[in-house]
Amino acid sequence: MKIILTKNYEQLSQVAAQIIISQVSEKNDSVLGLATGSTPIGTYKEIIKLYNDKQVDFSNVKSVNLDEYYGLEKGHEQSYFTFMNENLFKFININETYLPDGTNPNSFEECENYEKTIKNLGGIDLQLLGIGHNGHIGFNEPDTIFSTKTHCVRLKPSTIEANARFFETIDDVPKTAYTMGIGTIMSAKKILLLVSGEDKSDILYKTVTGQVRPQTPSSILHFHQNVIIVADELALKKILDICPEIIDKNI
Ligand code: F6R
Repeated sequence: MKIILTKNYEQLSQVAAQIIISQVSEKNDSVLGLATGSTPIGTYKEIIKLYNDKQVDFSNVKSVNLDEYYGLEKGHEQSYFTFMNENLFKFININETYLPDGTNPNSFEECENYEKTIKNLGGIDLQLLGIGHNGHIGFNEPDTIFSTKTHCVRLKPSTIEANARFFETIDDVPKTAYTMGIGTIMSAKKILLLVSGEDKSDILYKTVTGQVRPQTPSSILHFHQNVIIVADELALKKILDICPEIIDKNI
């Protein structure tokens, strides 16, 4: 695990975009695992700028997203399909993009299909992640076991509350979602975790210095050989206070 410190969200987004662009330059048919949420929005904006500057070509790139709300039509304004279109896909020349189909009521079939899709693509080269305040990655919530494959989850009240900002009322937030499992995420060749803001400082500290346990799903990243965490100063506040020496080192 390597932590890169950035001054602020803007710099975090630039650094993250460069890492993703380098991945695509090294392997033009990369399979990118993508995330939604507020954290990667700046990264996607930077990627679009670099694309417009002709610094990157996505024509052979494929993408698979971490998760999708159960029950939302693709066209729903809060579906992750819409999010990805509005924040990235419609601005770049990517041709093949996948998200779980939130409208498939047969969760067993949908999860199997999604795992097959990822496998048929040859696996994920780089997986982009954000992190929830409770340590969730994708929608893998704190639990007593680490999940393995893509599955359908019941969202924790704290996650529903955090996501309510995107919906008219909290009752409109779907209560279940399809998500890649921890095993699916861990099978990516590289992982890029983005963390911004002081409200994530505690969970980032816990992720990086705490025990590996399913109650903190993000802690599993310790067992991955190739994780880069790009975090801004505010998110690193607790680490900077307690153990600044771990920044920029492989830990
Ligand atoms: C998004 C996802 C979630 C978010 C996490 C952080 O696809 O899977 O795990 O990354 O909830 O969200 P933000 O970035 O909005 O704080």
